[in-house]
Amino acid sequence: MSIKNIKKICCIGAGYVGGPSMAVIADNCPKIQVNVVDINESRINQWNSDNLKNLPIYEPGLKDIVEKCRNKNLFFSTDIVSNIRSADMIFISVNTPTKTKGIGAGQASDLKWIENSARQISKYATGKTIVVEKSTLPVKTAEIIKKILFDSKSKDNTKNFYVLSNPEFLAEGTAINDLQTPDRILIGGDNCDAINSLKNIYLNWICKEKIITTNLWSSELSKLASNSFLAQRISSINSISALCEVTGADINEVALAVGMDSRIGSKFLNAGPGFGGSCFKKDILNLVYLCNYYGLHEVASYWQGVIEINDWQQNRIVRIIVEKLFGTIADKKIGILGFSFKANTNDTRESPAIEICKELLDEGAILQIYDPKVEQVQIKTDLGKSSLKWKYCKSIFDSAQEADAIVILTEWDEFKNIDWREIFQSMRTPAWIFDTRHICDFNMLNSIGFNIWRLGKSS
Ligand code: UDX
Ligand code: UDX
Repeated sequence: MSIKNIKKICCIGAGYVGGPSMAVIADNCPKIQVNVVDINESRINQWNSDNLKNLPIYEPGLKDIVEKCRNKNLFFSTDIVSNIRSADMIFISVNTPTKTKGIGAGQASDLKWIENSARQISKYATGKTIVVEKSTLPVKTAEIIKKILFDSKSKDNTKNFYVLSNPEFLAEGTAINDLQTPDRILIGGDNCDAINSLKNIYLNWICKEKIITTNLWSSELSKLASNSFLAQRISSINSISALCEVTGADINEVALAVGMDSRIGSKFLNAGPGFGGSCFKKDILNLVYLCNYYGLHEVASYWQGVIEINDWQQNRIVRIIVEKLFGTIADKKIGILGFSFKANTNDTRESPAIEICKELLDEGAILQIYDPKVEQVQIKTDLGKSSLKWKYCKSIFDSAQEADAIVILTEWDEFKNIDWREIFQSMRTPAWIFDTRHICDFNMLNSIGFNIWRLGKSS
């Protein structure tokens, strides 16, 4: 196969990964037509909405790119068949959630959407097609994709397929910046020409030193390993935060001192309520499943520990809140500031707020929840069948009304400049602040009259 000049790209899956990644490719490659398709019609309608505030995903900078490229060389559509048919290169960006039942339930990824996408590509693609795994997948998934594609090739010899792995390392909230200036681009594959075709796309805005190529399995595993290493750092610092609280050490001082060792580095050492997001837990569970599958049980339990500390961190925050509020929170109002799993996103997948709120509701509290970007319907879905004793608030002030405590769970900028004097007046005393993200000024709050508990600091 000669190096293909890619003119048309199709991306299956218009989610948090597919949408922003394709928008940035379209922006940097005006000669390539990028078609993003999805089975979810309402999601596609949101991407096509005239009012750019209605895009399905909130990401700083995304709106501007969509405005610039949409309907020029960036299209969103539910017409999966014809867009697969005309594509030179197809990215698979569908979701791969943890299986909830059957073999590997609770650990293995559910690959039914991946298989479904491979079958559609196998049926409708024409000529030479490069298929790129964008979703994070268990090692060896490319083998399944290849088997499905090559079976159809044997029936129709005008078709040919080349499978690449090109995992996405973007973090939500900084997705556009991460895509414009990534630390590295990883391309795994066994066909040089196909690899070069994808490399040439990235070379439009990324220097060649940052683009690394590996075999397929290294690429698939590197993504799982990267996410697991990042999550492991968070569990490490969170485990130390508990020790700080009982010894008088200060977690910020410890993180600074540890992080200044250039071998360790300062990033991802912020202690908090535990990591959330759609990737970390799912990917570690995946790694654990793979290790057990290959008989590496010690390795599996090592990584399982990272998740156990994360769950424990959330539970212990609830226990501390109950203990500080005289051992019972039944019928006490508690303001919850932040529901998304981190700032600058409306995403709540695996947000620590979900588990913490559910446990507080189980204890009988009445929650007054405010988040600048998460909508009421999302919180309702996330809290599910737990107690209905929660209220969606439209402002920080609303969430503090007659509350005994405020719990800060997400580090939104808006929470850094609160008029705490006004808030104090609207709360019941003794009024508590539980700051799990280190954004409050202790001395100022103390002088107003608040009781304050800060994660990783002794009281
Ligand atoms: C997901 C995974 O969470 C992540 O691990 C992986 O790297 C990429 O896929 P994300 O983009 O955040 O990431 O998922 P999501 O926002 O759920 O988007 C997936 C989209 O695929 C959905 O809009 C869904 O409707 C669509 N989809 C799913 C299809 O178009 N076709 C299918 O067959 C299945
Ligand atoms: C992560 C990876 O960073 C990204 O490379 C991968 O492609 C997808 O998964 P994301 O989940 O979007 O990205 O966000 P990230 O910034 O990594 O934060 C994940 C969670 O860890 C959040 O809940 C965040 O609050 C928490 N976190 C992060 C900490 O508690 N402390 C830190 O120091 C950093």
